[in-house]
Amino acid sequence: MIILTIESTCDETAAAVIASGPQVLGAAVATQTELHARFQGVVPEVAARAHVQRILPVIDEAIRQADIDPADLDAIAVANTPGLAGSLMVGLTAAKTLAVAWNKPLVAVNHLQAHIYACQMSDPGEIYPCVGLIVSGGHTSLYACHSATELDYLGGTIDDAAGEAFDKVGAMLGLPFPGGPSVSRAAAAGNPKAHDFPRSLVGEDHLNFSFSGLKTAVRYCLVGPGKQDFSQLDLSEQQLADLCASFEQAVVDCLVAKSRQAIRQTGFSKLCVGGGVAANGRLRAALAEAADRDGFGLVIAPPDLCTDNAVMGAVALEQIERHGYDSLDVDIHPGLQR
Ligand code: KG4
Ligand code: ZN
Repeated sequence: MIILTIESTCDETAAAVIASGPQVLGAAVATQTELHARFQGVVPEVAARAHVQRILPVIDEAIRQADIDPADLDAIAVANTPGLAGSLMVGLTAAKTLAVAWNKPLVAVNHLQAHIYACQMSDPGEIYPCVGLIVSGGHTSLYACHSATELDYLGGTIDDAAGEAFDKVGAMLGLPFPGGPSVSRAAAAGNPKAHDFPRSLVGEDHLNFSFSGLKTAVRYCLVGPGKQDFSQLDLSEQQLADLCASFEQAVVDCLVAKSRQAIRQTGFSKLCVGGGVAANGRLRAALAEAADRDGFGLVIAPPDLCTDNAVMGAVALEQIERHGYDSLDVDIHPGLQR
């Protein structure tokens, strides 16, 4: 079986051609980072318009790399939940149109299931059942993943996503967008104990996260309470590094603490991690240390499959096997379904 997968849930336009196995025959991603940089965050309307311009070239490129004819495809898969409404609509409309034009069945996939499946794509064994941690600009949540297509929500952020906190702190510090990689780079030479930032909700008997207090703590540290003007900051390189390292460590400590708690609560023996923030080096090292100490297995998606991509849409093969295809009236579901 050969499928085309389409991903346009946020600000990455991506397509891939995947054969059963799963084996990646072709994959292309067009990122919109430069379009959103001056707003220091993803602007939904800008994202949707950019998807419209990029989606067909990206699909063409994936098919060209795979060196197949569209007639060779057995199905068209598209992520239809969760995500930005306009962005999702572009991907779904493209998928439906091609399904009709090429006379192929359509299958809609869950973007969060796909993020966890990115771990399966890089692991020779079977990753399920596992605890899934998805940590990105839009999500920070834990799931009991019974199979590739059965996820139960265990807990998640009650305010900002971890990636959003990185992006906001990067913006306060005037670092290039997106803040995650920039803050992380600046943190490399810093002392993670220089500032004692809050680890909200850690130690409480549930699996929720909160990062808005941490973001506010960084703001108070920079300009003081009630102030929003970051244009006069005068930090030395070491002060910047210490602040970034302390912030990053606080985020990492929350993610590691709740992941360990989720492993204990579910009794599962494996933790699988996906989403853009999973590319973070300090997080990867801290999770590896926790896995070692507590004796659970750990699979973190490779960095290029952490950020949004269509290769992880290979989860569609499992979806087809278990639940068949979707009809052409399948819709988008922007909200996080618990
Ligand atoms: O999964 P993703 O590409 O898009 C969604 O949000 O769905 O994740 C993007 C997020 C951004 O907030 C970005 O700042 C963050 O992932 N990110 C990182 C790193 N690389 C990307 N955060 C921390 N450290 C990184 N190395
Ligand atoms: Zn994502």
